[in-house]
Amino acid sequence: MREDTFKRKLVDQAQIKPGDRVLDLGCGTATLTLLIKQRHPQTEVFGLDGDQHVLDLAWVKAAEHQLSITLDQGLASALPYPDDSFNLVLSSLLFHHLTRENKERALSEAFRVLRPGGELHIADWGKAHSGVMRMAFLLVQLLDGFETTTDNVNGLLPSLIKGGGFSQVRQTIHYSTVFGTLSLYKAQKATNGRLNML
Ligand SMILES: C[S@@+](CC[C@H](N)C(=O)[O-])C[C@H]1O[C@@H](n2cnc3c(N)ncnc32)[C@H](O)[C@@H]1O
Repeated sequence: MREDTFKRKLVDQAQIKPGDRVLDLGCGTATLTLLIKQRHPQTEVFGLDGDQHVLDLAWVKAAEHQLSITLDQGLASALPYPDDSFNLVLSSLLFHHLTRENKERALSEAFRVLRPGGELHIADWGKAHSGVMRMAFLLVQLLDGFETTTDNVNGLLPSLIKGGGFSQVRQTIHYSTVFGTLSLYKAQKATNGRLNML
């Protein structure tokens, strides 16, 4: 999976600064959330997930590492935070679990809770960059379902991110893994806060 490599790269590319408020969307057991807090102790880090059971495991991990993070239960499609709450939203391996409609809602919500000038950084399955990678991804599709994964492997995440209002959307790097192509994306909420519709 090269999980450690791509999560570290995601944190690197986010260029987190002291004082930033950072949200890890679909945090699971908080591997990325805790990595952010470990590497950037002067930040306020939130992890959100829909599943209370994984959040309970995340609490235990946070306590073991003696790291102070906030964990919230909620849906990416209806975030329990006010507008302009975060400098950065990061997300790892969430979007291939969401239907097209929920991907769109989650991206609109990420846009809403980001401050103007804030950035979105996503790591997830991306456009297969070879026939072998396309074949490898069939296993993920069989396990996680074709409905939620097809937009990923067809390379539609960047256009969906733009549709959520973001500008400067780009794929920064991709990795070959045993399960297919894993891509990192970066996007910004423009400082004037206007939707990127033009
Ligand atoms: C594959 S795990 C990734 C966990 C973590 N981000 C990581 O990279 O280790 C996907 C996570 O997304 C969560 N999830 C799925 N759909 C969600 C939704 N609509 N809102 C919030 N969390 C969701 C699941 O509960 C699960 O913990």
